[in-house]
Amino acid sequence: MDKILVLDFGSQYSHLICRRIREFSVFAELVPYDISFEEIQKHNPKGIIFSGGPSSVYSLKAPVPENKIFEMNLPLLGICYGHQLIVDKFGGKVKRANKEYGSSLLTIDNDSDLLSGIGQSVRAWMSHGDEAEEIPSGFKIIGHTQSAKAAAIASDEKSVYGIQFHPEVVHTEQGSEILKNFVLKICKAKQDWTMEGFIETAVEKISKIDGNVLCGVSGGIDSTVVALLIDKAIGNRLKCVFVDNGLLRLNEEKEVENMFKENFKVNFTSINAGQQFLEKLKGVEDPEAKRKIVGEEFIHVFSNFAKKEGPFKWLAQGTLYPDVIESGVSKGPADVIKSHHNVGGLPDWLNLEILEPLRELYKDEVREIAKILGVPEKLFMRHPFPGPGLSVRIIGEVTPIKLEISKVASKIVEEELIESGFYTKVWQAYAAVGDDKAVGVVGDERKYGNIVMIRVVDSIDAMTADWTRLPHGVLEKMSNRITNEIEDVTWVTYAISSKPPATIEPQ
Ligand code: XMP
Repeated sequence: MDKILVLDFGSQYSHLICRRIREFSVFAELVPYDISFEEIQKHNPKGIIFSGGPSSVYSLKAPVPENKIFEMNLPLLGICYGHQLIVDKFGGKVKRANKEYGSSLLTIDNDSDLLSGIGQSVRAWMSHGDEAEEIPSGFKIIGHTQSAKAAAIASDEKSVYGIQFHPEVVHTEQGSEILKNFVLKICKAKQDWTMEGFIETAVEKISKIDGNVLCGVSGGIDSTVVALLIDKAIGNRLKCVFVDNGLLRLNEEKEVENMFKENFKVNFTSINAGQQFLEKLKGVEDPEAKRKIVGEEFIHVFSNFAKKEGPFKWLAQGTLYPDVIESGVSKGPADVIKSHHNVGGLPDWLNLEILEPLRELYKDEVREIAKILGVPEKLFMRHPFPGPGLSVRIIGEVTPIKLEISKVASKIVEEELIESGFYTKVWQAYAAVGDDKAVGVVGDERKYGNIVMIRVVDSIDAMTADWTRLPHGVLEKMSNRITNEIEDVTWVTYAISSKPPATIEPQ
C-alpha cells in the first residue's frame, strides 16, 4: 500500500491532513517530527508532508526533522510552519510578520504542479505569525495573499513545495484538490486505501496472534466492529463481554443483548454491574475523577471475568484515532484534552496485552467497515456514546434521580429527532442534567425543579463540533415533552456552544 507520511510539528490540524488524504483513498500516517531516518525508510513513503506548528524556525528550540530527509529526493510539502521550515532548510529567510488568522484571498502567480487546476484565486485559511521573506534559490513564488508575498512556493524540479495556508481545513477552497495534486500527481501515490483492503489486512494480522482474546463490547459501532473482525480471524478464541455499568441509555442493556444474540454468532456474555459502578461514584463530582472511576471499575469487572473464564492473553478495545490524539498518547505533541478511559493504558497486574485494531481509523471509516461486515443499519446509524456513559452527561455527582432524568429526557430528544428526520443528520444528541434548579409553576403550584440541558451537535469527526440549528418547532416539542413527562423538571435549555471552546460532553 502506498503511503504518505505526515510529520507532526504540533498543529491541532495535523491529523486532518491525514484525514483529507485518506478521503481520496491514499493511506496517510501521522508520525512525530523527530522520527528517525531509519524509521522513515521502514515506512517507505511516496512523499512527506511537514505539518504546521506553534514554533518559529529561527528560535533556538525550533523542532527540526532529520537532515537526511532532505537528501532522499522524495516529494516534500510544507504547510504553515512546515512551509517556513522548507524555506529555511533550502536557504531562504523567514521573519516575524503581522499575524494573519482566518480566511485570506490567495492569488495564483505562476503555473505549478501543486496549484494546477485550482483557478486564478481561492479563499485560503491562514494562521501564522511568521512569513517567508526570501525564498530559496531554485524556487518560484506560485501564490500570494495581501500580507504574505510568498504564501505558496514551488520547485517543480525538486518536487518540493511550501504553502503558508492550511489546505486540510474545510475553510480553504479546493484544499483537497491541492492535496490531491501533491499526493496523486507529484508523489504518484496509488489510491489503494480501501476499507475492504483494511479488513483483509486486519484479519490477517489478528489471525497471527496466539492466546485468547477478551473483547469489551458496548453495543456501539466501534466495539462491535472490533468483535466481528476478531471473530473473523480467530472465532472461538474470542469472548465478548458487555458490562451494564448502570450508566447506559434507557433500555440499552436489553437492546444490546438482543442485537448480539439475533445478528451475530460471536461468544457473548452480559454482566450486570450497575450497583458496583454507582456505589463507587457516590459523592464524586469532579469530571476527571468520575472518568477514572468508571475506567477502573471496567478493569475490575474484566479482571474478575478473566479469572473465571480465562486465561486470556489480550483485551480488545474499540479505540479510534481521535481518542488516541485527544488523550495525548498519540505519537505527536498534541495536548491532553480529556482522558479517554480506553486509551489510558492498562495496569500491569491485569497481565493483558491491548489489541486495538481500529486505532488508526476515523469514525466514518469504521462505519464503512460496519456496512461491509453486515452490521444492521440501525446500529451504525446510532449516535456514538462515550465509554463513561451518562456519568459525563450528568454534571456533578451521579445520583439515581439525575440518572433517571437524563435517561428519559435523552430518549425524548432522540425520539423527536427521529420523528423530525434530524437524527441521522446530526452527530450526537442528548439531555444533560446538573444540580442547578429553577422555579416553575405546575397547575397553580410553585415548584422548584431540575434544569435539563439539551445538546445536539453537528460534527464530522468529533474533533470540532457546532451546535445544530434545530427548527424552533422541534425544540419546542422536546421541551414540552420533557417538562410534561418528567415530574422533576421545570426548565429546559439548549446548549449553543461550539467545540472549541466547549467540548461535546459537558464533563
Ligand atoms: P468531547 O466531549 O471530548 O467528546 O468533545 C468527543 C467525542 O468523544 C466521546 N467521548 C468519549 N468516548 N470514552 C469514549 O469512548 C470517553 O471517555 C469519552 N469522552 C468523550 C464523545 O461522546 C464525543 O463523541
